Amino acid sequence: MTVTFSLNGETVEVDADPTVTLLDWLREERGLCGTKEGCNEGDCGACTVMVTEPDASEQGVKALNACILFLPQLHGKAVRTVEGIADPDGVLHPVQQAMVDHHGSQCGFCTPGFVVSMAVAHMAGRTDHDDVLAGNLCRCTGYAPIVRAAEAAEAEDIPDWLADTCPDVAPLAFAPESTDELASWYAAHPSATLIAGATDVGLWVTKQLRALGDVAFLNRCWDMQKVDVISDGIRIGAGVTMAALMPTLRTHHSSYAELARRYGSEQVRQAATIGGNIANGSPIGDNPPALIALGATLHLRHGAEKRNLPIEDFFLDYGKQDRAPGEFVEAVTIPKEAPDLRCYKISKRFDQDISAVCGCFNVTLTGGKVAAARIAFGGMAGVPKRASAVESALMGELWSIETVKGVMPRFSDDFTPMDDMRASASYRLATAQNLLLRYFHDLNGTSVNVLEVSP
Ligand SMILES: Cc1cc2nc3c(=O)[nH]c(=O)nc-3n(C[C@H](O)[C@H](O)[C@H](O)COP(=O)(O)OP(=O)(O)OC[C@H]3O[C@@H](n4cnc5c(N)ncnc54)[C@H](O)[C@@H]3O)c2cc1C
Ligand code: FES
Ligand code: FES
Repeated sequence: MTVTFSLNGETVEVDADPTVTLLDWLREERGLCGTKEGCNEGDCGACTVMVTEPDASEQGVKALNACILFLPQLHGKAVRTVEGIADPDGVLHPVQQAMVDHHGSQCGFCTPGFVVSMAVAHMAGRTDHDDVLAGNLCRCTGYAPIVRAAEAAEAEDIPDWLADTCPDVAPLAFAPESTDELASWYAAHPSATLIAGATDVGLWVTKQLRALGDVAFLNRCWDMQKVDVISDGIRIGAGVTMAALMPTLRTHHSSYAELARRYGSEQVRQAATIGGNIANGSPIGDNPPALIALGATLHLRHGAEKRNLPIEDFFLDYGKQDRAPGEFVEAVTIPKEAPDLRCYKISKRFDQDISAVCGCFNVTLTGGKVAAARIAFGGMAGVPKRASAVESALMGELWSIETVKGVMPRFSDDFTPMDDMRASASYRLATAQNLLLRYFHDLNGTSVNVLEVSP
């Protein structure tokens, strides 16, 4: 297996095991030790690299965590490490110069990762520095000087030495080039591991030291990376990353977009796919509760056979999904509109944290009464799950504070939540109840944004 990509402007060809991470290869085989290993699980951003997709107009230039990026995921792309950010003749990139000028570094361990994230954002003209840098952790400088540096560099030109060309490459064994190719390969190799963004699978290798056996990388199934607005909804290919989904969510489902903004970090959102987030069946994944509340339809495929099911029926039990060997998630379809959908993520930190509880509400009112209700939670059971008892209790009732308060205790009929390091069972239950109250106030136009403090 030869993986070909551009590294700091030069084409490289690498023969390696498919589950070697870019971080290990850079540091151990190339001696490029500017890319740091902090957590080795996608959390700290010390290993951030710049990756240009072959079709830059569609996908752009991304900041990705090299510690959970396998070499085959780079086939046909261009990578820049921190060593390739300055001009080869020594002139610093504007963000590097600004970090010096604004004292943005102390011990310096985090600095290469910050510089790469900042250079990617600078190239994209982004000024939402808090969001861009939420996946880069600094423990000694503090964020104020770093953000000041990012702001200072905003007006500077993009250095022309960063213009990367992706090499032309032949298809790679175990990286199918289309959904059809994937379907026939996976039907013939049903015990293989599919790898999409590797934000879960990467950790199986770096933290659990698992040998994966047969693998297929999905990132070259270009036709599975499309968002299509069709007559009766929006069809989202399983390979669409959370970052690529954002513009659609902002246009059609703004509350879901707010939830997605807090999904991992910029680096995680640029890698993680919606299909991987559904297929892993995690009880604390952020997409499933939103998709269930929207009444989404899941599209599964096995060879040439396709089937559709309401997404909530996919999650059977903890670690068990309605998916046969060799069958994969092809897409998910959501409605174009759901003006009363609200998604609330409760986690210990605002940014870059897994939900303790994620509650998504979609109640339809007719003549002031509840005509339809879809309420779904993550973090409350072994699977993402609807609050069916609460929904039934609301149906046909007047949408009033009395109704809501009367129904709140019914959450204990729906859920017996767990105690873990993210939250206690009693906290989770109380939070679910209070989120219904928050939803009531939210629909009534009362400000419920917990980040806003009003006099
Ligand atoms: C630092 C960090 C922060 C995170 N924060 C969040 C967060 O805030 N919210 C959240 O929900 N998750 C979070 N995650 C978890 C992770 O990002 C998601 O579960 C992610 O969506 C998985 O997608 P992926 O493309 O990376 O999947 P992968 O890791 O490639 O795969 C995950 C699983 O799905 C399978 N799979 C992938 N695609 C398909 C397909 N099309 N059909 C069938 N099976 C498939 C794989 O075989 C594997 O079992 C975080 C992860 C990290 C590392
Ligand atoms: S080493 Fe921490 S994100 Fe990669
Ligand atoms: S400068 Fe030390 S961790 Fe950021």
